[in-house]
Amino acid sequence: MEQAVVQLASATKVVVLTGAGVSAESGVPTFRGKDGLWHNYRAEELATPQAFRKNPALVWEWYDWRRSIIAKAKPNQGHVIIAAMEKHFPNFLLITQNVDALHERAGNRKLVELHGNIWKVRCTNCRQISHLLDVPLTLVPPVCETCGQIVRPHIVWFGENYDQDLLRIAQEAMAAADLVIVVGTSGAVWVPMQLAYLALQSGAYGIEINPNMTEMSSKVQTFIQAEAGKALPELWRQTLAQLSSKTSLRTR
Ligand code: OAD
Repeated sequence: MEQAVVQLASATKVVVLTGAGVSAESGVPTFRGKDGLWHNYRAEELATPQAFRKNPALVWEWYDWRRSIIAKAKPNQGHVIIAAMEKHFPNFLLITQNVDALHERAGNRKLVELHGNIWKVRCTNCRQISHLLDVPLTLVPPVCETCGQIVRPHIVWFGENYDQDLLRIAQEAMAAADLVIVVGTSGAVWVPMQLAYLALQSGAYGIEINPNMTEMSSKVQTFIQAEAGKALPELWRQTLAQLSSKTSLRTR
């Protein structure tokens, strides 16, 4: 942790990449692992355009069920610290794979939601993006008010392309970062991991926070094997202490 604290205290361009693990302590299940969402269903059965074409009501109801869990969840200490980091660093970006919007609720505004947002829907025909609450919910799945075609979750499913503008913003931030923190992701999805590798290859100092080892763990300079809700407050507490001791040395 010591080296990570020194690096974070002197960093100016910071990028945080998060995955489902950061919301685990808020009670939102992760995707993989024994308590993961894919434990009972295979991802290909639900989170694909093919699955939605075959059985839109099933996919929609699965998202309704997930929304009911997320609606009860609150941002945890991990989310709170990432929001505090955004306030502290003038050059900051949060890139999240999570669709639960808990980062936004914690106060992050400089964020890229790479995989979309579970509270947003998109018309399968005219592609208009709306907030779920702005769509009449009488049918399952609901239909678009403008063109009458069914709407789908505004989420990047398996086999679908990423939003190229968001990807470019994420790539630029990663390439320029002098420190990257990767929190709560298994690394199973290739594009977000490539983004983190881009930062490391471009010379950024890497910190990973995860109670379990991943492929990233051996690539970063500091692997903190702990839950996000414990490790992030501790990392930040020590970083602020380091910064204030530097300031007091300077003013003496
Ligand atoms: P995963 O479920 O694959 O991985 C969750 C990770 O969080 C694991 O490495 C856990 O060890 C770790 N973890 C668990 N509890 C934690 C805690 N309290 N603090 C920190 N880490 C913890 O989730 P993702 O890597 O986010 O895509 O999955 C990537 C994508 O796969 C998701 O965005 C989703 C899925 O397909 C879409 O829905 C489009």
